[in-house]
Amino acid sequence: MILSNPKGTQDFLPPYGDQKALVENEFRKVVSLYGFSEIVNPTFEHTELYLRSTGLTTDIVTKQMYTFTDKGNRELALRPEGTPGVVRAVLQNKLKLPVRLFYIGPMFRYERPQKGRYREFFQLGVEVIGESEPETDVEIIEMGMRFFNQINLSDLIVKVNSVGCPICRPKFRVQLRLFLDKNLEQICDDCKIRVEQNPMRVFDCKVEKCKEIYHDAPKISDNLCYDCQNHFQAVLKELNERKIPFELDKMMVRGLDYYTRTAFEFVPTGSSELGSQDSVGGGGRYDNLVEDFGGPKTPAIGFALGLDRILICLGNALTSRKLVYIIALDAQALKQGRQLLDTLRNAEIPALINPPDKNLRAALGIADNLSCEYVIIIGANEMQKKVYTLKNLTQRSQQEIPQDKIVEVLSKK
Ligand code: HAM
Repeated sequence: MILSNPKGTQDFLPPYGDQKALVENEFRKVVSLYGFSEIVNPTFEHTELYLRSTGLTTDIVTKQMYTFTDKGNRELALRPEGTPGVVRAVLQNKLKLPVRLFYIGPMFRYERPQKGRYREFFQLGVEVIGESEPETDVEIIEMGMRFFNQINLSDLIVKVNSVGCPICRPKFRVQLRLFLDKNLEQICDDCKIRVEQNPMRVFDCKVEKCKEIYHDAPKISDNLCYDCQNHFQAVLKELNERKIPFELDKMMVRGLDYYTRTAFEFVPTGSSELGSQDSVGGGGRYDNLVEDFGGPKTPAIGFALGLDRILICLGNALTSRKLVYIIALDAQALKQGRQLLDTLRNAEIPALINPPDKNLRAALGIADNLSCEYVIIIGANEMQKKVYTLKNLTQRSQQEIPQDKIVEVLSKK
């Protein structure tokens, strides 16, 4: 149907479009405090980029990618996530390391849509390329929490785990495989495939029965090599010292192949609006990805937050609008009103004026529809007394303000 949006996409209608921009701005402010610069990558890349990074055995690559062949016979994919494109750009353009980059933009995954899960969704992401210290891991987790506090989404916990590295994983995989082979009859068909291709992916399974079984499975964070163990202990110690609310979750392995060592997710506590889509963000280290792309050995870490999910959690929390609506009741007042409109805008106070043919009732109706907080009424009485009638629509109060004081009064609101 031509007059409906494609399944899994959204229109951000007012006031949510504004709310989205407010959240993006807060994100920009917070990450700039930590030295991040913005990067804007293409929304599509060569499909191979994701096969080689996100991973051949992940749900994202096997089931969810929007791939297409273009008119020049190139195999391309709409980006399902931001990390591979950022790393590609850093290497291709030989950026000096270490580098801290952030991005904001749409991602695409062919998923079964439901509340908080879309086929086009927006991420706020950061990538730190060239820093290996456990302190960096905690610094960016703390930065994520600071951002959430800033937008008043503080009922959150960080789930943390370590997913090891290519030194500890092969030995662990043998152990896990033994456990899974013993339970093969009881696990779902998808997991049977995972056992063959990449046994650690079974921990991504959402089937309740499987999750129950994997509770008793060996866990990677209990089987780390010496260096990974040291790194993980340092991260946990620092999280404690900085009093960041976190929970060790040994079942969390994250659904992408490039992760090494620290993996984490930001999860709302209490009665989340999100239902089963509980994570509002996730990330981790990927110390081998740069090398896998043909670059030098370079440690890296990052996270991405789901903007659509954040907006669901916020509801209307950030949407109070400071728009002032000027209602001029006759031709002379209209002239005065137009001057006032300029004065307010020059003072950075958002303002609109009513169309001249509307009566007071109709004009107030428009102000209400626009969710204006204030209305300024100018009629013959106001013109004569050199005042404006200032109406607060939320508090349903009104007062007369001397004309030359209006900017001062509204600036304080
Ligand atoms: P991810 O866990 O796949 O990680 O996605 C991060 C966040 O994006 C999720 O926590 C969720 O809030 C949001 N998200 C994912 N899929 C959807 C969807 N279909 N609809 C709505 N929101 C969604 C990554 O993408 C990694 N690139 C993160 C990262 C950066 N790791 C290191 N650096």
